[in-house]
Amino acid sequence: MEIISDSGAMQEQARAWRTEGRTIAFVPTMGYFHQGHLSLMRYGREQGRRLVVSLFVNPAQFGPSEDLDRYPRDLERDAGLAAAEGVDVLFTPTAGDMYPSGYQTYVEVGELSRGLCGASRPGHFRGVATVVLKLFNLAAPDVAVFGEKDYQQLRVIQQMAADLNLPVRVVGRPIVREPDGLALSSRNTYLSIEERRAALSLIQGLNAAAARAAGGERRAEALLGAARAVITASPLVRLDYLELADPDTLKPVERLQGAARLLTAAWVGATRLIDNILIEGD
Ligand code: PAF
Repeated sequence: MEIISDSGAMQEQARAWRTEGRTIAFVPTMGYFHQGHLSLMRYGREQGRRLVVSLFVNPAQFGPSEDLDRYPRDLERDAGLAAAEGVDVLFTPTAGDMYPSGYQTYVEVGELSRGLCGASRPGHFRGVATVVLKLFNLAAPDVAVFGEKDYQQLRVIQQMAADLNLPVRVVGRPIVREPDGLALSSRNTYLSIEERRAALSLIQGLNAAAARAAGGERRAEALLGAARAVITASPLVRLDYLELADPDTLKPVERLQGAARLLTAAWVGATRLIDNILIEGD
């Protein structure tokens, strides 16, 4: 595995591979790898002749009072894990390379960026879309792989790729969970033992709604009520949002008809976690 930090060198390598007719799979990350990241890499490995993983904690997607400075980092460990997954290039650009002084171009995906995480994290998806478009231009992938834990992010990037005619297939892969159900996240490392226990209420709440739906309940308000009661039961948890949404448009649905996504974000102590599940309708 090669580690490339220079964006020009990354672009040159990708161009050389494409000239040789190699397909490129790409997994963008912010590092501190867990099994969720590794599952994306494994999938990417099957999809392309060459696999590029980027590791960049993107300042443009963090708000001024968010966790940019304390976001967990461990390049040495990450490089070992990526190499073991058969990654060809670990791309680790610097912030100065991605956003040199005088930088002034940003990508904004409209409607899909506004609700859910977009409402509580103004500017977040603008930062995500911008960096992902830049990374696509550097790694030149045929296929890019994203985790479904950040479901809104996946939809935003798919919309950007469609709207801007990007020659890349944007694929979502299922959430990887701890044995007790907690969705894997680099931010789980912030949790104390009590908070870790309380964090389980997110998936338990989502599952409570899924159980009501499986029992025939179709009213969104009833499904949301079932989830809310579980998520807010712990005094350590403060709900940010809980919504039943159309899986494509992310607009709220009032009745479960086809499939819908049930999405939540909650503060567990000082850590903001997100989770979502697919709920099948009729
Ligand atoms: O999901 C993430 O880790 C980030 O938002 C991404 C897609 C790497 C963009 O910085």
